Amino acid sequence: MTSIKNSDAWIALVDHHKSIKSAEMRDLFNEDENRFNDNHIQYDDLLIDFSKNRITKDTIPLLIKLSHEANLNLWRDKLFSGEKINFSENRSALHTALRNRSNTPVLSEGKNVMPEINESIDKMGNFSESVRSGEWKGFTGKRIETIVNIGIGGSDLGPAMVCKALKPYGTKNIIPLFVSNVDGADLAQTLQQCDPETTLFIIASKTFTTQETMTNAFSAREWLISKLKDSAAISRHFVAISTNITAVEDFGIAKNNMFKFWDWVGGRYSLWSSIGLPIAIFIGIDNFKDLLAGAHEIDNHFKTAPPEKNIPVVLALIGIWNINFFNFTTHAILPYDQGLSLLPSYLQQLDMESNGKFIDREGNRICLNTGPILWGESGTNGQHAFYQLLHQGKEIVPTDFLMPIHSQYKIGENGDGHHKILISNFIAQTKSLMLGKTETEARDEMLGKGIPKKDIDLLASHKSFIGNRPSTSILFNKLDPKTLGRIIAIYEHKIFVQGIIWNINSFDQWGVEYGKQIASLVLPELRKKTTTTAFDSSTNNLINYTKKNL
Ligand code: F6P
Repeated sequence: MTSIKNSDAWIALVDHHKSIKSAEMRDLFNEDENRFNDNHIQYDDLLIDFSKNRITKDTIPLLIKLSHEANLNLWRDKLFSGEKINFSENRSALHTALRNRSNTPVLSEGKNVMPEINESIDKMGNFSESVRSGEWKGFTGKRIETIVNIGIGGSDLGPAMVCKALKPYGTKNIIPLFVSNVDGADLAQTLQQCDPETTLFIIASKTFTTQETMTNAFSAREWLISKLKDSAAISRHFVAISTNITAVEDFGIAKNNMFKFWDWVGGRYSLWSSIGLPIAIFIGIDNFKDLLAGAHEIDNHFKTAPPEKNIPVVLALIGIWNINFFNFTTHAILPYDQGLSLLPSYLQQLDMESNGKFIDREGNRICLNTGPILWGESGTNGQHAFYQLLHQGKEIVPTDFLMPIHSQYKIGENGDGHHKILISNFIAQTKSLMLGKTETEARDEMLGKGIPKKDIDLLASHKSFIGNRPSTSILFNKLDPKTLGRIIAIYEHKIFVQGIIWNINSFDQWGVEYGKQIASLVLPELRKKTTTTAFDSSTNNLINYTKKNL
């Protein structure tokens, strides 16, 4: 494929950008009272308002042409039909099959994968029910009160994020904990909260070879045996989720206590698979199925909605517009819902591991910016940390605001006192980022307050805001399992669409593998008694200094 930069649509977008790049959103809103009407999508109770982006009536149609030039529809069909689009790992990316609640056949290498998926969901359901009901007993006959998921990356971030987000749906009888970091502090501090007799460890690793996870898993096993004084206890306190049966058995976990999934499930897309076991245990299998159902709805929406009404497509195109034409290379995720406080970290992996790449599918260097640097924090906490830069920094950061209309908690005046304050802050932020405040407005405001002229002269420029900063707002009724499934699937497909436009394989992660490879070279040097000379002088000295002082 020739670079998308040479396409007619791209060239037209370059011209379009030249003509509107200085346009002020405040003027665009003043000139067009239908701006919101024309630039939002409603899907059931989901409202996506993208009118506060630097777009005009021509922008989205031109971007849609770009998606056609990138053959988006063809690639979307390849994704859903199980074609091996992850060519560098020789795999399909069939996570959509995991949540295919309509159960229509999905083929992988000519075989319908749905029966195995359904079987795996049933196994998760039976097991999670037995743990929740207390039927599953620990080695000394007590029921399970704590589950500890040991995994990292996709085997941690999704389940941890979802368990936090759906806490109101979680059982009060079981505490879900997550250990990911190989830093011993993570496991040690978690174990301090655990009673060995009532703790179930879930070792979650697609490969069952990941250094961090296996190190934590072995230490957890040692801890359990030392406490319960019998290695037979493992069978009641350890289960595994993996694609690697042999490694699981070698670890000492019986086949029966293993929940399998398949190599066509990418790590960062795996929460829909048995990697979601901690979710199913915590919120129950029916709620887990609702999570799947929400994602499945979005899969259907992505497949069938026209591009201008297609939520992942429109969000992706706006992202391309901001990154490649305005050169805004970071993107902030700002959920005004404490339950979603782990969403930015979850989306960091999903987006940056998928599209943080500079080589295209044909092996050529991409001469465009690709995946954004993604970051964020829940509101209102972020407002008291980094929003200063969002409002007045030199960098312009496009933002996604996420806001539930209803809180899960009744608290404050009339039961929604806190929530109304939260909503007002979200709306105030999107409004002020767009509108800004001119120096004249800042002066008038101070004059109105009777501030002396000399102080106004001093402060006017400091209290002015350029505004014109793009944001997208995603509103929904409340953060329930189905809604969360929808939100996650929207972002998955958004990232997929962007990968297609940049001609990237969004499903491999060689950068991460590279880190693992180098770490495996450093560790033996660190363990050796002698001084190392194996690497460059900085690396050698870091190793040698550490060894000397260890
Ligand atoms: O972080 C890199 C990665 O390869 C992810 O893609 C994956 O989710 C994670 O490591 C963990 O891998 P595994 O599930 O095999 O332990």
